[in-house]
Amino acid sequence: MSRKVTKAIFPVAGLGTRFLPATKSIPKEIMTLVDRPLIQYAIDEARAAGIKEFIFVTSRGKGALEDYFDHAHELESSLRKAGKKDLLQLLNETNMESGAIAYIRQHKALGLGHAVWCARRLLANEPFAVILTDDVIMGEPPCLQQMIEAYGETGGSMVATMEVSPAKTSSYGVLDIAEDMGAIVKAKGMVEKPKPGTEPSNLAVIGRYILAPTVMQNLNKLKQGSGGEIQLTDAIADEITEGRDVFGLRFRGQRFDCGSKAGFLQATVAFGLARDELKDELAEFLTDIMSMRKAAE
Ligand code: G1P
Repeated sequence: MSRKVTKAIFPVAGLGTRFLPATKSIPKEIMTLVDRPLIQYAIDEARAAGIKEFIFVTSRGKGALEDYFDHAHELESSLRKAGKKDLLQLLNETNMESGAIAYIRQHKALGLGHAVWCARRLLANEPFAVILTDDVIMGEPPCLQQMIEAYGETGGSMVATMEVSPAKTSSYGVLDIAEDMGAIVKAKGMVEKPKPGTEPSNLAVIGRYILAPTVMQNLNKLKQGSGGEIQLTDAIADEITEGRDVFGLRFRGQRFDCGSKAGFLQATVAFGLARDELKDELAEFLTDIMSMRKAAE
């Protein structure tokens, strides 16, 4: 089977309740880090990794997300008339080629595995990527590209992974390690949200996956797992049980959990500091606010 990965699934059906009231009227994937919505970071990372087809698994109330990738004709023509080439260029980067995006609805919130399974008819017998937009990763080359390169060597299925403190493993999918080769680890099992004290390691799965088509077949079983949901982790663990390889890649880069308020704020600061036009003013502000805090203690 070819190891070329050209399709990525973006499960974006979640309600984003942790960001209410903001998410009452906007999808959480449209929330912005500096000036780009979360979904744009995910799409840029996918494109850098050679993805050509983008499959969004959406739900009610996600219309703004679909509109975001349309051409904004009126806006474009007024920018053109005003000679604002830079802004036009910026907008152009958000446009998608016709037919490159597909939207599929997840009609019931039955879990991440179920969301991915909703896209089954859009895939042939080919490996595919999954990107969780809550996990924003600052890395060079971008995380999915690092994975595509590693996967070219290993085949099988691959998840992004990083060490987390043992106290936090119960919030993640966790790898049971068969062989630790440094950047790449081979898994002998995977557990979704293990109960504290039962985690097989502290290597957590982060939201980037390259999956063999057999993972989709495993999802066909629609088996309920942790929290009563259909878990992607379980379908990947089934690969191992059935004798196929699953690897984790310790990616190079910094991951932000933009599904949490603290993570979102940290990402905002980090991406702000990475921008030439903002970094000095922002750094000065941060220094000032920290010294005011210290003085008040
Ligand atoms: C999901 C996955 C979990 C993974 C995590 C990474 O969990 O189910 O295996 O470790 O993303 O962010 P969620 O955060 O949606 O509960």
